[in-house]
Amino acid sequence: MDKLLIGGGGPLDGEIRISGAKNSALPILACTLLADGPMSIGNMPHLNDVTTMLALLRCMGVGITIGEKMCVEIDANALTELTAPYELVRTMRASILVLGPMLARFGEANVSFPGGCAIGSRPVDIHLRGLEAMGATIEVDEGYIRAKSDGRLKGAHIFMDVVTVGGTENLVMAAVLAEGQTILENAAREPEVVDLCQCMVAMGAKIEGIGTSTLVVTGVEKLIGCHYDVMPDRIETGTYLVAAAATRGRVRLKDTRADILEAVLLKLEEAGAELSYGEGWIELDMKGKRPKAVNLRTAPYPAFPTDMQAQFTAMNAVAEGTATVVETIFENRLIQIHELNRMGAQITLEGNTAIITGVERLNAAPVMATDLRASASLVIAGLCANGDTLIDRIYHIDRGYECIEEKVQLLGGTIRRIAV
Ligand code: UD1
Repeated sequence: MDKLLIGGGGPLDGEIRISGAKNSALPILACTLLADGPMSIGNMPHLNDVTTMLALLRCMGVGITIGEKMCVEIDANALTELTAPYELVRTMRASILVLGPMLARFGEANVSFPGGCAIGSRPVDIHLRGLEAMGATIEVDEGYIRAKSDGRLKGAHIFMDVVTVGGTENLVMAAVLAEGQTILENAAREPEVVDLCQCMVAMGAKIEGIGTSTLVVTGVEKLIGCHYDVMPDRIETGTYLVAAAATRGRVRLKDTRADILEAVLLKLEEAGAELSYGEGWIELDMKGKRPKAVNLRTAPYPAFPTDMQAQFTAMNAVAEGTATVVETIFENRLIQIHELNRMGAQITLEGNTAIITGVERLNAAPVMATDLRASASLVIAGLCANGDTLIDRIYHIDRGYECIEEKVQLLGGTIRRIAV
């Protein structure tokens, strides 16, 4: 199992390109199942989760050609299997996103039930109840969700009682081919949901209210293939901004957007960062200063994203002052603080709240990554520590950060993969 060795040192300084968004690429790949004709998807990030989604589509018989610059061509008309097997779903929970489109287009879907994960129990009840409201029959049998529809799904008025990104995506993908109108209330407004909807509109779907909490979908009989480019990854963007802030450095990020990161940029300004941005770029400069501690509370978009909580917790660990970080989305997502404390951080946990008293510098230690964003926080901590930090279980990081070693090195950081 590979490990990462991070040398703590000076400030990060430099310019890198931001990749396509993982959390947009995955649902967009799932939605290609809806197209009656070949699709081509550009700006696809080169990540293990994307490889898993492509493997899942391929094992269902879908035709896939990987072109230049991570442009993927997909032909779902070749589909022969209506099953998403356990072996693939267990490595990536987002595999559940094929359920809605498969059922809507082919009238049947068998998807292995995704289990819990390190950050919490993560149920899919809202996905299933919404599909039932649209006329599907759903059984859980031998660990598989077996969904069937007698003819086309039927439009329905659905109120989701928790804001769920994946639930909204699955239901909107089912609704675009359903008969009649579907209204999804309390829908997630995350930019990745918007990106998915815009891709489906380009395929001929009729969706109103995109970017709001009420999506009104008028089902069409078929969708066509088209080309679509995945949006930039706002979490990768935020991670490098925080890494620069925590190391008192400077970074310029290309091929990204500031408008989808408002809550994060405001917190970085509060931490003392000088920010500037324009069409397709963001720059952060700490002017050599130590960041100030910032309180935060995670909540659905447009509030502060749970996927940025761990990185800010790492920055707060070396900031001036004391901060409170409240995690409201996932029950077990402050787990990385125990690893940060092994590096000399001063963090206490009270329920879903971390209280962090910043220290001047962390000390290197062998640490273990527990999930994707927690791994990113350990890289940031390693960059701020005295000595060399060895991070174990970094397969988590390869799920969501493209070329992390190259990018950190381009910014002047010391990072090396050790194949064990
Ligand atoms: C997506 C993102 C993940 C991010 C999360 C929250 C992808 C591939 N992953 O995950 O990176 O951290 O959004 O922004 O896009 N819930 C239920 N019942 C359901 C579905 C969800 O109770 O049927 C709860 C979950 O347990 C959680 C909350 O809703 O507490 C939000 O989860 P959700 O938005 O669904 O997360 P994912 O789509 O899995």
